[in-house]
Amino acid sequence: MRELKIIQPDDWHCHLRDGAYLSRTVPDSAAIFKRVIVMPNLTTPITHPSAAKKYRERILNAVPEGNDFEPLMTLYLTDETTPHVIAEAKASGIIHGAKLYPQGVTTHSEAGVTKLEKIYPTLEAMSEHHIPLLIHGEVNDPAVDIFDREKYFIDKILTQLVKNFPSLKIVFEHITTKDAVLFVEESSKNVAATITPHHLYYQRNAMFMGGIRPHYYCLPVLKRQEHQLALIAAATSGNPKFFIGTDSAPHAVTRKESSCGCAGIYNSPTALALYAEIFATQNKLHKLEGFTSLYGADFYGLAHNQKTITLREISKNVPETLSFGDETIIPLKAGQSVKWDII
Ligand code: DOR
Ligand code: ZN
Repeated sequence: MRELKIIQPDDWHCHLRDGAYLSRTVPDSAAIFKRVIVMPNLTTPITHPSAAKKYRERILNAVPEGNDFEPLMTLYLTDETTPHVIAEAKASGIIHGAKLYPQGVTTHSEAGVTKLEKIYPTLEAMSEHHIPLLIHGEVNDPAVDIFDREKYFIDKILTQLVKNFPSLKIVFEHITTKDAVLFVEESSKNVAATITPHHLYYQRNAMFMGGIRPHYYCLPVLKRQEHQLALIAAATSGNPKFFIGTDSAPHAVTRKESSCGCAGIYNSPTALALYAEIFATQNKLHKLEGFTSLYGADFYGLAHNQKTITLREISKNVPETLSFGDETIIPLKAGQSVKWDII
């Protein structure tokens, strides 16, 4: 039975939602992660530091007694986000990134940016104030095949963006393709990427195993095996440009199991076990700590965590459902078991 002691992990991309849902998401994240980068795509997006400050308080109120969980807040960029707002975000001391959702690409992205050029002065301000740009890297063009939207984004938008803003720190979030891996590898040290457990663990067939499986649907959508293999190689390589970001994104079961099911996978309780399994299968357990606990903090310019955790290779059952406000949610690996647990 293998055991592995590592510095406590952080999660550099997570959707905690709001209101009653916080009593599910916050304790689940806080049971494993010291810090999470909190996505700002609430029903009313977090577009101003004052809203981020209040949201942070609501999150902190949901942290279990005695837990030192730290939410790291982000701003949601719109066409109207000014350089002044970025200066205020910096001054607030609680904002660690600003998120670019090209309008219409995903859940609650209706207020997203319509044309990147419109926020060039804002991006300039982010560069000056050292606030990283966190990118949902897909085009929103319905004419582009959904499996190609990340590659199009790289070719049509990201390549130019990186040239225009060489000093801007960019996290290419939840990458899903070998094209994205290559792009990040070949870019400067200011460009990094997060990788989710589900994009490492599954390929697109998972959505269609014997029928349509909405709980495997997320955006960017799962891709074919060659991409999965490129992601596994990148994550386990020890290259500090690639680090953890679960993209845990809960939707109530009724919203998933629907004629138009929402995108998003709830994986906070199982993410670390799945990452450990992937690294173990690749004989790369010695690289896990860098990926989960060091490289993200280094990229964001934050200290490493003080505490350690111990992972043990032991089977653990995952519940069929979890409570979620007045509703229920189906976590990743529901009704199955995972192979690693924190002891
Ligand atoms: O699958 C996803 N769910 N992808 C996103 O980009 C957003 C997220 C959500 O908020 O549900
Ligand atoms: Zn996300």
